[in-house]
Amino acid sequence: MGLFKIFKKDKKENSLPKGFNLITIAKITRLTNESVMVTLDIPAELKADYTFKPGQYIDFSVNTDGKEHRRSYSICSGPGEAVSIAVKAMPNGTVSKWFNEVAHDGMEIACSKPQGQFTLESGMKKVVAFAAGSGITPILSMAKGLEAGAEMHLYYGNRNQASAIFLNEVNNLPNVKVQHYFSQETVEGAKEGRLDDSHISDIIKENLDLLKSDAFFMCGPIEMTETITKKLKLFGVADNKIKRELFSAPVADESPTDTSVEPVASDVTVLLDGEEIDVKFKPKGKTILELLDAEGYDPPYSCRGGVCSTCKAKVTKGKATMRMNYVLTDQEVEEGYVLCCQTEPLTDKIRIEFDV
Ligand code: FES
Repeated sequence: MGLFKIFKKDKKENSLPKGFNLITIAKITRLTNESVMVTLDIPAELKADYTFKPGQYIDFSVNTDGKEHRRSYSICSGPGEAVSIAVKAMPNGTVSKWFNEVAHDGMEIACSKPQGQFTLESGMKKVVAFAAGSGITPILSMAKGLEAGAEMHLYYGNRNQASAIFLNEVNNLPNVKVQHYFSQETVEGAKEGRLDDSHISDIIKENLDLLKSDAFFMCGPIEMTETITKKLKLFGVADNKIKRELFSAPVADESPTDTSVEPVASDVTVLLDGEEIDVKFKPKGKTILELLDAEGYDPPYSCRGGVCSTCKAKVTKGKATMRMNYVLTDQEVEEGYVLCCQTEPLTDKIRIEFDV
């Protein structure tokens, strides 16, 4: 067993993570002092795999400081354009700084295929979008992917013009009506402050027709998305029309999603890549993803914070709860889907399948 585990870990360390491809960076374009656009050179044989829906993201695996780090970045390009992402350097962001300071044209990087459910769908004729800072990235892709005759009302918040990425692009997109918000600069035609409760109320009251839109997209920090979600619900917008994406996993002092249930010790069977894996779960210990990782397996993951859905799987026997869930819908949870990076069993036996 020991030898088997060593084999599994060696295999994991010496090869690409499962589902990843080595892709060449075609070009790094500086957008602002703190952000870059990274354009990928997708080889012909992988082009079909890298067809994406506007709003999707790609997971990246970067080895730096002697460790593997995974992060998800939203695609900013539109359908038919070279696949590109935008990365803003975060103050303590290992990977975001690596993209801004180390990555260069011609370098190869490990990337997953595009994925994610925060997407513009065909038939959407009128959409409303709220973005803060680098949250504009998936929204820009959606704006470029609007169908003929469709329109987007975009509300875009930034500190100032210098820090705003894709400022010119969003101002010049056809069928997009944009209103800017700057919290640290007075700009003609723009509103002052953040996209907060009172601004959201004003937006809706000034144009009640917005409430009839096909979808409401928002991408930014959790406080902003929660404020907007609450306000939209108050104005009667249906849950299934509200789509949100967070920049990153919120810091871990948030309360668990459901405090009414207690995880229990459990024999866990996981179906991963056609292989049945047995692990033992103990309460207040590791989540299912962490257990698999500790055993040397290579389950899919990126944020590890309940945000990206890369680790989504389905509970097919037994019951489970999640510490956090910022991405699965109520219906998906009802159907048994879980985020394995957050999953803890509620029954003494449980089966979880990745391959569904
Ligand atoms: S790894 Fe991102 S939600 Fe689990």
